Amino acid sequence: MADGVGRAEACANIALAKYWGKSPQGGNLTAVPSLSLTLDNLRTRTEVRFSDDLETDEASLDGRPASGRVLTRITELLDRLRAAQGETRRARVVSFNDFPTAAGLASSASGFAALAMAASQALGGTLDPVILSSVARQSSASAARSLFGGFVELGAETDSARPIAPQDHWDLTMLVAVVQSGPKPVASTGGMVHTAATSPLYEAWVRSAPGMFEAVRRAVLERRFEDLARAMEQSALTMHATMLAAQPPIVYFRGTTVELIDRLPRWRDAGLPLAFTMDAGPNVKVLTPSEHASELTRRLEEFPGVGSVIACRPGPAARLLELTGSLEAARPLTEAARPLTEAASSTGARS
Ligand code: PMV
Repeated sequence: MADGVGRAEACANIALAKYWGKSPQGGNLTAVPSLSLTLDNLRTRTEVRFSDDLETDEASLDGRPASGRVLTRITELLDRLRAAQGETRRARVVSFNDFPTAAGLASSASGFAALAMAASQALGGTLDPVILSSVARQSSASAARSLFGGFVELGAETDSARPIAPQDHWDLTMLVAVVQSGPKPVASTGGMVHTAATSPLYEAWVRSAPGMFEAVRRAVLERRFEDLARAMEQSALTMHATMLAAQPPIVYFRGTTVELIDRLPRWRDAGLPLAFTMDAGPNVKVLTPSEHASELTRRLEEFPGVGSVIACRPGPAARLLELTGSLEAARPLTEAARPLTEAASSTGARS
């Protein structure tokens, strides 16, 4: 029974096949398909509490009060769920990331996925991940993918994401090389609109992205790492080339980003399997079969300009958290519902 409170946890995801650009149909649908890996080590935890004594929604993110566009986007998501449930109360949202926010990693995917699930629970609404994926997608398209664990696709002009392979499908590690960044990058939504409006390469991107997506998808399903690396890097670099051709150009790279994408293929040629990708920021994410993760971490940590390296394995679907105690300490409900020993042994068995 809903008592106006909900708590959920969702993991960030990184696209192996990128989307960049919204469909002319509107509704925040994407122009091209994308395919991502959910990451276990980049998590957002969110509590939503509806209350009679609030006049507006309030939110705190990592201990700081949200305002402006950030708060508006939270309210817009809550409004959609309120409308569906005939709810009028406003809500207090508390959310934090368990990864360093200073790292400049996009947290909107895990953030909106956790918010959709926690708010829906608080209102006694649906917990169906397909529907919550659509709710989250309307706020941030990449968030649609964070409702699911493992490898997840979001079709072009498609309402909800769907998982294509589970968390334990392939033992890969994603190393996030955090590049010490300078000025704040252009926000993704504005960057996409600007690219679509001014880049002569945008049409070619929309035409070619589905082929790269298919190649990534096939390589993931067949666990062919070399094919994945080729398709994944082409997807990321074509996306960035499209932005670089915008007028004025959108440049998310920093010097270290360029040094890394020059060096990484040489490490690969010398026998270290890896595949890189970059999003709307200077960080480089490097995927590798897990047995090579420690060697690659060492090299990345020593690389000039890399501040830190965050290692992530394939992560689980978004899930509810127990409502007792602090948000920080709350266990996932799926684990809390089972005896501790069973929960511990199944976590230990996951590879
Ligand atoms: O949906 P947004 O606004 O989080 O934009 C995501 C854009 C990329 O991360 C660059 C690509 C992707 O498919 O996630």
